[in-house]
Amino acid sequence: MEEITLNVNGKVARVGVDPDTPLLDVLRNHLGLVGSKFGCGLEQCGCCMVLIDGKPEKSCGKAVLTVAGKDILTIEGLGTPERPHPLQTAFLDEQAGQCGYCLSGILVSAKALLDNNPTPSRAEIAAALDDNICRCGSHLRILRAVGRAAAAMCAGAAA
Ligand code: FES
Ligand code: FES
Repeated sequence: MEEITLNVNGKVARVGVDPDTPLLDVLRNHLGLVGSKFGCGLEQCGCCMVLIDGKPEKSCGKAVLTVAGKDILTIEGLGTPERPHPLQTAFLDEQAGQCGYCLSGILVSAKALLDNNPTPSRAEIAAALDDNICRCGSHLRILRAVGRAAAAMCAGAAA
């Protein structure tokens, strides 16, 4: 056991865990942030994706010690029901998803994309989400929703 200090969604959190514990376990079981999902547990499906220092990373295979002191963003830090992120609004508007299990990972991956490339092409959106699998096959709506969010954010910035 070791005390590890994490910076999650802009707040400092201290946890006493085995340093090899996967970050996903710590988020879900120690910090109560259950938006990030356990899918394959093998770094293959992307439903556990979070942003670490702004970069999408799969949290199921990442030892918590390796992210101590880094900025971690989970779906809980993206927006709120009162003030949703434009991506969340666009996903609702496009009804982009069925069961929703993949969406927290997809939304944070899409945020990383739009932070770095506010006007991505469809091919760039698809490439950015290549590590995120949607078992329901909602990919076409998901691509549309990310494009819609990009357009809304650009329009907002220009207004
Ligand atoms: S649960 Fe982490 S990639 Fe599938
Ligand atoms: S909406 Fe069900 S896995 Fe993507």
